[in-house]
Amino acid sequence: MTSKKNILFLPGDGIGPEVSAEAEKVLVHISELHHIDLDISKMLIGGIAIDQEGSPISKETIEIAKKADAIFLGGVGGPKWDALKPSLKPEKGLLKLRSELDLFANLRPSMSFQGLEDSSSLKKEIIESLDILIVRELTGGIYFGNPREMNAESAFNTMIYSTNEVERIAEVAFEAAMKRNKKICSVDKANVLEVSEFWRKIMIKVSKKYPEVILEHMLVDNAAMQLVQNPKQFDVIVSSNLFGDILSDISSVLSGSIGMLPSASLNSASKGLYEPVHGTAPDIAGKSIANPLASILSIGMMFKYSFSQENISIKIENAVKKVISDGYVTKDIAVNNSKVVSTQEMGDLIIANLN
Ligand code: IPM
Ligand code: MN
Repeated sequence: MTSKKNILFLPGDGIGPEVSAEAEKVLVHISELHHIDLDISKMLIGGIAIDQEGSPISKETIEIAKKADAIFLGGVGGPKWDALKPSLKPEKGLLKLRSELDLFANLRPSMSFQGLEDSSSLKKEIIESLDILIVRELTGGIYFGNPREMNAESAFNTMIYSTNEVERIAEVAFEAAMKRNKKICSVDKANVLEVSEFWRKIMIKVSKKYPEVILEHMLVDNAAMQLVQNPKQFDVIVSSNLFGDILSDISSVLSGSIGMLPSASLNSASKGLYEPVHGTAPDIAGKSIANPLASILSIGMMFKYSFSQENISIKIENAVKKVISDGYVTKDIAVNNSKVVSTQEMGDLIIANLN
């Protein structure tokens, strides 16, 4: 790869800056190893942007994000900004970025790591060698539907999907399934909601183009239970914005800690925003104990999805696996006998295992 890669870092709030710093360290190191030129810029998002620039994301930041080849985001939000109205909260910065860049396809893999089985609250045999991918629709549904309102007597939101919105997320899920075990579970609430009945019809329509892929449907309440009871039945799960949000937090238990899960949010040109699935953990911010592995694995996803360099993504994944099987962990995934290291030491260990 010869062209320069323009990467925007949006560290955000809470532990965001700490985990971003480790992600950046790994990105810089691996790019040197592979002779990739980087142009890294940094801007504000979330609560810190509200405090310093007066809004959760500035127009300038959106413009820079649109021009970047890929974006890394640490996390947004915290108790300091809880009292603000939803339209002014730190989270609005992330939602605006997702919608302005049309990042409709959110990929959230969930895998178990050898050596971390005891960190999960689930039994070892339930999660051993698990590998699932949640494909979450990210720019539609109840998160963005209109009308929406809150007044003194009542409040409402609108869960709405158009044909095109469901078709394009279905395509992403089926394409992903084709490269995996060719099984999709579409999660909805079609026994109650028209929007889900519609979603299901379109999933079935798109499935005709992929005769090799087995499509099944599951109601979201059942899916939540199945995810903890028998997660290995799943390969690709595709769901709407809100259901996918909830299911991906549940699936984080499977890998030992939410601190392990990376994500990619892509538009139709594979431009991507990469972020850990976890939040900003304000209670542990600034203590150097946050787990940077979700962020580091998100850099791996950046190479796979935005730069078509899956070899580098595998290298990063292997380094993470090696460090964990050597017994090194951050506090969130520590069990008896594990060697607890700081956020920064974890970043250094990954780098030491990349060569
Ligand atoms: C996530 C987060 C966001 C979401 C918040 C911060 C708006 O929970 O990325 O899963 O709900 O999508
Ligand atoms: Mn979430």
